Amino acid sequence: MAEVTVQAPAKINLHLGVGPVRADGFHPLATAYQAISLTSRVTARVADAWGLTCTGLDGVDITEVPLDDTNLAMRAARLLAAHAGIDRPVALHLDKGIPVAGGLAGGSADAAATLLACATLWQLELSAGDLARLAGELGSDVPFGLVGGSAAGHGRGELVTPLRDRGRYDWVVLTFDFGVSTPAAYAEFDRLHAGIHVPDPEIPEPLVDALARGSVRDLAEALGNDLHPATLRLRPELAEPLRAGLEASALAALVSGSGPTCLFLAEDRDHAERVATALATYGRTRIAHGPVSGATVL
Ligand code: C5P
Repeated sequence: MAEVTVQAPAKINLHLGVGPVRADGFHPLATAYQAISLTSRVTARVADAWGLTCTGLDGVDITEVPLDDTNLAMRAARLLAAHAGIDRPVALHLDKGIPVAGGLAGGSADAAATLLACATLWQLELSAGDLARLAGELGSDVPFGLVGGSAAGHGRGELVTPLRDRGRYDWVVLTFDFGVSTPAAYAEFDRLHAGIHVPDPEIPEPLVDALARGSVRDLAEALGNDLHPATLRLRPELAEPLRAGLEASALAALVSGSGPTCLFLAEDRDHAERVATALATYGRTRIAHGPVSGATVL
């Protein structure tokens, strides 16, 4: 085998419950993830030297993507090589269809795809648990990128268990030409909660029930994001498109993860297209559906 290509999905947080900051600087989370049909692909190819190249698909701006050893995909390949005790360079190519720094875990999807691509290329006998542990070392959202579907995330997000989901959900994904740094959003969360008791986070039962029944309308009622006020403080201009989406009949509107991407839940695909049309002046709209599978060898 000379090369392997793996596709991995964007994640959204249907609910992002954030607890009080831990001693290690991370926040305990109780989140419900969903993988949606915006995807990136990673190709790992046998090479004489380690290398990384990148292209943007579907208008994704890749100017901020580092092409050196700090890139999360490259770190994933090197971590797996070190874990397996092998020294076989690969050239990675990223085809990024997930907007960068958007709160959609695009870098985490690259890392998840790279782990699976290199494990396949090197024919490593790794259990799902081994891969998940390595993924968790790389970032809080990377293990979910391997699993996909709809899933609960605990710990700092890296402890993932699948949720029963009988539904299909159509989303409008509104992205902007600016990003929000995840650490900055969490730091703002800490400032907003200074001196206030922050309870341990939980995933609301109505959300788990809504997924199990596949009820779009009940899911719309149960969506939530504890980082929303922090992200809105950093980017107050997000309030307007969120309101415009609801006025345009979206069932719900929320910030994705740490933002700035805004998500609008629709009844079905046709409805999503109508909502997207109403939002086109605010940024770039894409239509996606979830849940979709995690990292998959093509
Ligand atoms: O794990 P990841 O590398 O994605 O985290 C990026 C940053 O986001 C962390 O350095 C931390 O500032 C913040 N974070 C957090 N609590 C989490 C996840 C991320 O504070 N559960």
